[in-house]
Amino acid sequence: MAVATSVYRILTTGKLIEINSRAGLKDFKQLYNLSVQNTVCLICRKAQGFIEMILVTGGAGYIGSHFVETYLAQSQSNQIVVIDDLSEGHAEALSADSRVHFFAENVGNLTAVKAILSRFPIEACVHFASSCYVGESQKNPPKYFHNNVVNGLNLMRALHESNITKFVLSSTCAVYGNPKHLPIDETHDQEPINVYGLTKYMLEKALAAYAQQCGWSYVALRYFNAAGADQSGKLGESHSPETHIIPLALQTALGNRHELEIYGDDYDTPDGTCIRDYIHITDLAVAHSLALELINAGGRSEAINLGTTTGASVKEIVDLCRSVSGKEIPVKISPRRDGDPPKLVANNDKAKAVLGWTPKFELEEIVRTAWLWEQNRRY
Ligand SMILES: NC(=O)c1ccc[n+]([C@@H]2O[C@H](COP(=O)([O-])OP(=O)(O)OC[C@H]3O[C@@H](n4cnc5c(N)ncnc54)[C@H](O)[C@@H]3O)[C@@H](O)[C@H]2O)c1
Repeated sequence: MAVATSVYRILTTGKLIEINSRAGLKDFKQLYNLSVQNTVCLICRKAQGFIEMILVTGGAGYIGSHFVETYLAQSQSNQIVVIDDLSEGHAEALSADSRVHFFAENVGNLTAVKAILSRFPIEACVHFASSCYVGESQKNPPKYFHNNVVNGLNLMRALHESNITKFVLSSTCAVYGNPKHLPIDETHDQEPINVYGLTKYMLEKALAAYAQQCGWSYVALRYFNAAGADQSGKLGESHSPETHIIPLALQTALGNRHELEIYGDDYDTPDGTCIRDYIHITDLAVAHSLALELINAGGRSEAINLGTTTGASVKEIVDLCRSVSGKEIPVKISPRRDGDPPKLVANNDKAKAVLGWTPKFELEEIVRTAWLWEQNRRY
């Protein structure tokens, strides 16, 4: 297949050169790995609708590491630059694939990030790196404003000054605050009730300004509850402290925790415990690839919910964890926590319509993959 006009970006000794080539695909393959002055070149096929090299921040974390695997599996020519300071992530979660270029760096370090960006023909950024514990954000707002907002804005500035204008943000349903209607759609009021949600809200607003004033295209993906693990059992969830119900319940099933604390069983829900919308990590990862495609195809900037629309109560999750693991899970009912709404579930119509995304994994598969991981954790 001949390609009429292709634009290739060649990385030589750290300098990006754009060339126009009236070359066909055959010539492209010949150009690939071409050596210029003894320097191996990386060539990015740019004008044909593919994003081949992306920056992933937080790629050693739970969601970022799963996304890295998904993106690499999509095409042999995909490459990823990962920036993660390993403050929360795990070196063991990093892909060993030679198409991954890892930098242990803080995304807020403007000079260092710009130097990294200047070395690779990166076309888009998927930004996972942030601090993500709601409770901690209430106790330590400066940490959250600094890491999520100041460092996030520095990253955006580095991208802007490097002419990278495509961005996917890990946002959260916490930007909505207490639900005024259910399921929550993207037009729902945004009134975050914790500092964590507020920092994501602030970054979304900054992105909207970049889109309007600087020509950026972005998708802010508002996740509900990420859960489960890669089906191979190679990757999984490992937070410290762990605050998520599924790993906590399964660790209790394994005897690594004495009992599972349930915060409140007197909510206005069928069994009295809180209802949340759990989404499998692989479904989540795939949505990021679709968001990149949307941006690359010239789609307008969007905020999009990622959830399944069906919620499960804490008690239902615990029962499922018991049946999947075949183990006892002792529970203790504790008082309600501040700021826990009884029910949070997503309306995902927009994700279906705009991204063409539908979650594939059922709750049982979420718990089964999480159980596989918990029994053989590598980190
Ligand atoms: N896990 C969920 O259920 C959930 C729900 C909604 C939104 N999110 C968002 O998804 C993203 C990823 O969440 P996760 O559960 O994978 O968290 P995680 O803590 O496992 O991963 C975050 C990664 O970012 C890195 N990091 C943090 N600050 C950094 C910095 N300044 N510079 C470089 N690296 C930095 C950490 O080392 C870690 O590897 C976060 O932005 C989070 O707010 C997560």
